[in-house]
Amino acid sequence: MSVDAVEIGDEGIGDQAAGEYADAAIAGARALIEADPAQERWLTPLVRAIKRKRLRLPSLSPTTHRVVRLIEQAEVDLDELAQAVNGDPVLATRIMGVANSSYFRGATEVPNVREALMRMGVREARTLVVVVALRSTLLRSPGLGERAQALWRHSLLSASATQEITQEIPPWETTGFLAGLLHDLGQLVVFAFVAELPAWQDDGASPSDSAVDAMLEATHPALGAMVLASWGFPAAFCDAVLGHHDMEGITGDAEHLAHAVDLGHTIANRIAEGFAESADEIDAELLEKGERVGLDAPRLFDIAEEAEANLEALSKLA
Ligand SMILES: [Fe+2]
Ligand SMILES: [Fe+2]
Repeated sequence: MSVDAVEIGDEGIGDQAAGEYADAAIAGARALIEADPAQERWLTPLVRAIKRKRLRLPSLSPTTHRVVRLIEQAEVDLDELAQAVNGDPVLATRIMGVANSSYFRGATEVPNVREALMRMGVREARTLVVVVALRSTLLRSPGLGERAQALWRHSLLSASATQEITQEIPPWETTGFLAGLLHDLGQLVVFAFVAELPAWQDDGASPSDSAVDAMLEATHPALGAMVLASWGFPAAFCDAVLGHHDMEGITGDAEHLAHAVDLGHTIANRIAEGFAESADEIDAELLEKGERVGLDAPRLFDIAEEAEANLEALSKLA
């Protein structure tokens, strides 16, 4: 797996959609310059890089790409998934290792990837394969530094929570995990860009943390959608990522997924801060976000517990 400098639409799919999300990212950057002219020196190079398709975007190895495409489908064929995993010896070894770990361990060692996936069961297998496959893409992205672990944790928690949330939201029943895992992908693009900024400044200066936060807020949803479109993700999935903090203009299935991801993200943040001790103590904002997707306080509480337990299991395994 590698994170290389690639051009937008390098993979030849989703070019046009990626272009629309690129425009949305530029619009976000321009709005921020207008609101805070001091940001101009950081954002003008960003706008230029987006326009010239010179941004450093996270890329997937062909195997990971295949695995993610398979997982994204409602029905996963274990044979096909095993075949895809076998395309990458490192991934195959890790999946076998997970199946043979004490968590799943049966009477005998599993002899091959297919048996490994069978032992886990379809639901676990699809989760674990995508986590193992994407882990290094996320963690090794340039410019993340100390934030890498926190962002990975946030992604895993959001994934587990969103998986629970979408279970009764068709057609997203099996998409929640992946959507939660990837919703903040655009942050990787911002951090990689920020890491290169000093080289482009006459005085070699870099933006303050608060300036970076403002850049993230203004552009990460659109940049994430742009990367996913270039990876060939369906439009509704990309639109949901585009709208995960601001649903304006997002409609239909995409809006439902956007609400689910927003809730998953918020639960992940609450867990990081220390979740409410009981369902009665859940704050009003979280309750409101739950209501939008038909979940009450006890259910939100359960989802948070489940997400935390899942995080622990996944951190041990992947
Ligand atoms: Fe986000
Ligand atoms: Fe998030």
